Amino acid sequence: MPIVSLTREFLEHFNITECSRAICGGQKTVYKVRIDGKFYALKVIKVADERFIRELKICEEFKQNAGIPRIFEVKSYDGETVILEEFIDGNDLSQISGQYLGDETKVCRLIKEIIQSLKPVWEARYIHRDLKPANIRIRKNGTPVILDFGIARALDDESITVSGGQPLTYIYGSPEQYAGKKSLISYRTDFFCIGVIAFQLYTGKLPFGNGREEIGLKYKNGNLKVSSGSEKIDIFCNAVFKVNPSERPRTIDSLIKLI
Ligand SMILES: Nc1ncnc2c1ncn2[C@@H]1O[C@H](COP(=O)(O)OP(=O)(O)O)[C@@H](O)[C@H]1O
Ligand SMILES: [Mg+2]
Repeated sequence: MPIVSLTREFLEHFNITECSRAICGGQKTVYKVRIDGKFYALKVIKVADERFIRELKICEEFKQNAGIPRIFEVKSYDGETVILEEFIDGNDLSQISGQYLGDETKVCRLIKEIIQSLKPVWEARYIHRDLKPANIRIRKNGTPVILDFGIARALDDESITVSGGQPLTYIYGSPEQYAGKKSLISYRTDFFCIGVIAFQLYTGKLPFGNGREEIGLKYKNGNLKVSSGSEKIDIFCNAVFKVNPSERPRTIDSLIKLI
């Protein structure tokens, strides 16, 4: 993935006085920029496809939700779509996961906050479908912000492979995503992914391994019972680690009560 910089014309057009270099992903490139003394996350998208439009719509609909980044502006520039978004000062959860290791209280608090941020989104019938530590940003005060609603639709087989800018997503994916069973996808799919995140934060290990075949085999065998060393985290994880989504907690409130 190439490292890219914005052109001088681009910087002038948007009155950007400071800009980080960025790694160019599949379709989206994210920069930290300064405009009028304030920092923003600036996202440049080559094609404003259906995925991206959905992400914008979700951020707009939930703009009062501190757990979702605020979008200030969407513009076209030179055939590309540019979004100016609230810069979440902090780290991706993937960068600071070690801070949660063995700390039951800290893990449970974070998981609860993630669920509470997603509650109104789920109630509006959206499903994130790509919850993983790299898509959760932790503000300096410790509260989570959920990023990347771009894949808020059924994951097809291709998008859970290592290709297509979705590296290793299957590690956090549910059995129904792994099997490409789109009709089984519901908010209880996100419940499963949150369980994987909780287990990994507390133990430093992935509950079902990180090999695609290894995970597939466990999902096929059906018994996903885990033991993390924390009774509380086990209760939560074992409630969501069910191959059949209908065996996972039925409602969002019943999920919250488990953590
Ligand atoms: N609003 C934001 N504030 C700070 N950093 C952000 C913001 N949005 C994205 N990022 C950073 O850019 C990365 C990629 O953004 P994301 O929306 O997840 O796009 P992608 O589809 O490329 O995964 C994130 O993991 C995060 O590090
Ligand atoms: Mg992402």
